[in-house]
Amino acid sequence: MSVIFQTVINLGKLHSFRKRLNSSVSTCRCLLVRKYSDVPRKFISFEEVAAQRRAQARRSLVVQVNSESSFKELHGYCSEYSDIKGVHHYNNSSGEHFMLIEFASEENLKDVLKTCSAHQKDVDVMSLQSPFLWFRAVQGKREKYTTPATSLAITEGNAAVNEDKLFEGLTTCASVSDQIQMLYDQTVLNDVGVRLRYMVARQLEVIFASLYSNIAIRPFGSSVNGFGKMGCDLDLVLTNVLPEEMSDPKKRLVYHEKKCEGGRNPWQRHMELVAELLELRVPGAGRVTRILNARVPIVKYTHEFTDVECDLCYNNMSGVYMSELLWLFGSLDPRVRPLAFVVRRWAHTAGLTSPHPGRWITNFPLTLMVLFFLQQKTKEGVVLPPLKYLVQRAGKEDVRIAEDNLNCTFLRDMNKLPPDTYSQNTASLETLLVQFFEFYAQFDFQDKAISINEGMAIRKPNGLPLYIVNPLEQTLNVSRNVSYEECERIRMEVRNTAWQLETAMEEKTDDWGLLCLIERKTSRGLKKLLRVGNSQRLVSVKDLFKDDDSVPCENELKSKLEKLATKSEKSVVENSDKKEKGDGKFKNSSVANAVRRIRRQKWT
Ligand code: GTP
Ligand code: MG
Repeated sequence: MSVIFQTVINLGKLHSFRKRLNSSVSTCRCLLVRKYSDVPRKFISFEEVAAQRRAQARRSLVVQVNSESSFKELHGYCSEYSDIKGVHHYNNSSGEHFMLIEFASEENLKDVLKTCSAHQKDVDVMSLQSPFLWFRAVQGKREKYTTPATSLAITEGNAAVNEDKLFEGLTTCASVSDQIQMLYDQTVLNDVGVRLRYMVARQLEVIFASLYSNIAIRPFGSSVNGFGKMGCDLDLVLTNVLPEEMSDPKKRLVYHEKKCEGGRNPWQRHMELVAELLELRVPGAGRVTRILNARVPIVKYTHEFTDVECDLCYNNMSGVYMSELLWLFGSLDPRVRPLAFVVRRWAHTAGLTSPHPGRWITNFPLTLMVLFFLQQKTKEGVVLPPLKYLVQRAGKEDVRIAEDNLNCTFLRDMNKLPPDTYSQNTASLETLLVQFFEFYAQFDFQDKAISINEGMAIRKPNGLPLYIVNPLEQTLNVSRNVSYEECERIRMEVRNTAWQLETAMEEKTDDWGLLCLIERKTSRGLKKLLRVGNSQRLVSVKDLFKDDDSVPCENELKSKLEKLATKSEKSVVENSDKKEKGDGKFKNSSVANAVRRIRRQKWT
């Protein structure tokens, strides 16, 4: 007898499976018929997810429409040619409307593309094939379409996170752990965000297909490693792939190829061409910038249809394997990603990271710091294993060699990892957050390097201020750019935050828990001032000019202003008092106990 087992498979298969079963399965993402004897699978591999997303992009189109209400017409029009699986609506920052349509199969999409026409008004415009289209207004009599059986999967699917709502939500959470989870849930890159990033990659593949018969454009970095937030940039790598059928020596007819002549790096020249093509031929690509003399040459551009900032490089498979590694660690335990999100957000608020490159830390090494912390042994055990465990358990199927013969072999299937090597430490997110800051407040940055390969601090091989071992190239330091001053700032902010968190957990004031970490001090003061009574609603400027009683009176505002002015002075004195007296003065005894418990759990 067989059982229906939940796992993730090609969604196209699910479509036909559903048809066969003639039953509705709404919550399962996919189904597979398995035998009882099969080992149940808990984890999906990065490559499976990436393959599903790429397949999804191959059977999807993005169509610019007039408005959200174009859904019925677009659905009706496309259904005449193909089966539609789902339609997702979003706006870009210019207020333009788009529908991302997923068809039931790639063949279906090809049928739709056969019906496409070109823009004929302008002779200077030369059309090309791309998965980004627009829906022409109807000529003559409007056709009547029936209302689709399914509605839009999402509207405004790419909308930026509403920070005011987020902060309101965070204020009303029951615990700091809930706050951390909420921050993650509300800011993590959503399904539409991921789909669009794969569509941007797909667009380049389609456009370059006639120039390069064997390339793949793969997303990497935060768009796919599970640590991406809404609006994150898109790192893309252009790679040479030689499918088996193209490398068969028995095949007699072979494409003539062109060797790139001249002394300069051929890839650099190809990237120059790619930049030209982006400027000239790729709809939606704007603000193209060439950074071709860097160690890893990059072409940057803005994808205006999707509002995604793209960094395209070539032949950097180690970047993809690094993303895979981060993804695997993130999938091992549900606390990893939420914790990394808070730390990344905290670092941004504290001004430790910046969207511009410089002598400061970036999100990637910061994420490695979080992983390293979670590898530390406590009495209970670890949350994450060291990378060397994954390398030791790798099989033949895990062998990957990247550019420059870089060995990127490590276990890919986390189902094969013994369950007693991770998630032994069951501390709450709140506890882990406090411990993260306490751990780095005591870390010996002077002499020690952070190595997720070992899962323990190792001796620094040189005098660079911050040393975080590159997990895939252990002789390199991923934070080599960080200056002494920036490293000092990290140490200072970590210490301050460890101390600040204790106070922030004491009682539910306006900036309790996470709020004190992720809200800029300047806006915090203003928000407090504008808050109405005990509610979280902020007074708008318009409200201030109303005469009715529903807004705080002048006196209330005045007294808030006075309190705010004296608060920072007072809190400095109070906090330094508390530091001297130890933590025996907590107003809330459960919080005091929690802090004492966290402190008791010494790192072994
Ligand atoms: P955000 O873009 O800030 O959201 O995070 P990100 O993880 O995408 O970081 P970034 O865009 O800076 O880098 C993209 C990816 O390149 C990272 O996720 C890593 O996989 C990889 N990467 C970054 N820095 C290094 C490095 O120094 N060495 C190697 N081998 N890979 C790196
Ligand atoms: Mg990135």
